[in-house]
Amino acid sequence: TNASLVTHALARDTLSRIRDVETQQVSFRKGLVKLGRICGYEIIDGAMETEYVPVRTPLTEMTGERVTGLENIVIINVLRAATPFVEGLLKAFPRARQGVISAGRDEEAGMNERGEFPISIDYVKLPQITPEDTVIVADPMLATGSTMCVVLDHVLSDQPEPAKLFVLSAVSAPDGLLRVSEQFPQADLLTVAIDDHLDENGFIVPGLGDAGDRAFG
Ligand code: PRP
Repeated sequence: TNASLVTHALARDTLSRIRDVETQQVSFRKGLVKLGRICGYEIIDGAMETEYVPVRTPLTEMTGERVTGLENIVIINVLRAATPFVEGLLKAFPRARQGVISAGRDEEAGMNERGEFPISIDYVKLPQITPEDTVIVADPMLATGSTMCVVLDHVLSDQPEPAKLFVLSAVSAPDGLLRVSEQFPQADLLTVAIDDHLDENGFIVPGLGDAGDRAFG
């Protein structure tokens, strides 16, 4: 797969805290915000360039550095669990344009024999994407990958292909990473952890439970 891990120690620390079953709603949400911020910084560090700029300090002139491309960021919020995660990402990318997609698994229908869920999309509002953009699609959980594949279909249809496309999650299952990277080879998959497996209900194990329920109560 084209998946890579967010390796910052604080990302693993924060994820471990929110996995804990004792972590309550407010701490869980704050943890997701913090994780989003760290992941944003990691994307900047790993994928973005800097340029030299003149700086005048109170004492003298010098050459400083500035990250380029920060005005060409689009963040897609996959409702609802991604909301606190995106809040954190925005601390790293304050000028990002944002899109929202409400996508949910039909849990009652269950997984089909190919390990996919039917996905219902209720609301889609996306900014215009340009070929200069870096698009970050954020969803804390990548389980079967069914949601993300439908979301990416919407994000990429009738729009120019962005310069870079990141799928960012906190916890992923191997099946989901495989499905998304097969269907969208142009996407860079970034995740803080790759967990062991999916259970028969399509939940990531060990995972962190239902992120939407834990964050929103
Ligand atoms: C969760 C999660 C992802 C999706 C992942 O959302 O936030 O969007 O499931 O599963 P998949 O990879 O198998 O598609 P859920 O459908 O529970 O909606 P919610 O965020 O509103 O709780």
